[in-house]
Amino acid sequence: MQTPRRVEHQQTDRGYVPVYATGVVEQPWASYSPTDHAVWRTLFERQRELLPQRACREFLDGVAHFGLGEAGIPKFEDLNRVLGRATGWELVAVEGLLPDEVFFDHLAHRRFPVSWWIRKPEQLDYLAEPDLFHDLFGHVPLLLNPVFADYMQAYGRGGMKAFAIGPQALMNLTRLYWYTVEFGLIATGAGLRIYGAGILSSKGESIYCLDSAAPNRIGFDLERVMNTRYRIDSYQQTYFVIDSFEQLFEATRPDFTPIYARLKTRPPHAAADVLADERVFQHGTREGFAANADT
Ligand SMILES: [Fe+2]
Repeated sequence: MQTPRRVEHQQTDRGYVPVYATGVVEQPWASYSPTDHAVWRTLFERQRELLPQRACREFLDGVAHFGLGEAGIPKFEDLNRVLGRATGWELVAVEGLLPDEVFFDHLAHRRFPVSWWIRKPEQLDYLAEPDLFHDLFGHVPLLLNPVFADYMQAYGRGGMKAFAIGPQALMNLTRLYWYTVEFGLIATGAGLRIYGAGILSSKGESIYCLDSAAPNRIGFDLERVMNTRYRIDSYQQTYFVIDSFEQLFEATRPDFTPIYARLKTRPPHAAADVLADERVFQHGTREGFAANADT
């Protein structure tokens, strides 16, 4: 397999991570090795067994609609034909994590960057940075949902605005992404279900987020979420629960500028906090939580 081109390491809200060449590349599909395809198959099979009773219907429908399967790593151009027809989004292959403003610009133009490389067999359960399985399996199925697709574009536009306002605004907005797009839960008639890509691409967290007594599960509130720190070194200590993608989209429709100004004067909540008067689905036991090291 080719090697992704790293350009520098950068301290970001996601920790100390490599930032890659920012350009869009061709997905080098022909260069994937049998091991790469086997890694995809193993990860895919594990999640296919786990997720039917855990992931939201919209995600499962998306996986089926794309025809994602055990055939191996999909070709982005095949997925793009389906995606373009459904919601006008397009996958672009990239070397890895992008600088914030480049990432926001892609989303604002309905382009979703996907790392073209996949993790190694010894990294099935943990990887510090997003690879193809996380980006593609975790994020892309929901881009077929029209409301969620619009939310992602609105996030990109909001990101460009926040980037211009300053680092505090960017941090508030990054927390929103973290607790929704990456680690969000949704309430359904059948119980809580997963829609966050960070969970959907992780076997361990797909179980923990719904079954463990340790973390909080708390009703989504925009300003609360934007003012809550999070963990990058462990499973989440709090999950926020939306009622629908429409609720999420509507809640994030207003201009965030006054919210950023308000939050500047308020100390952030710790990742494990439960506040008075919020909608608590589960008040976690905190069992096994590490000493405070929130981001
Ligand atoms: Fe992600």
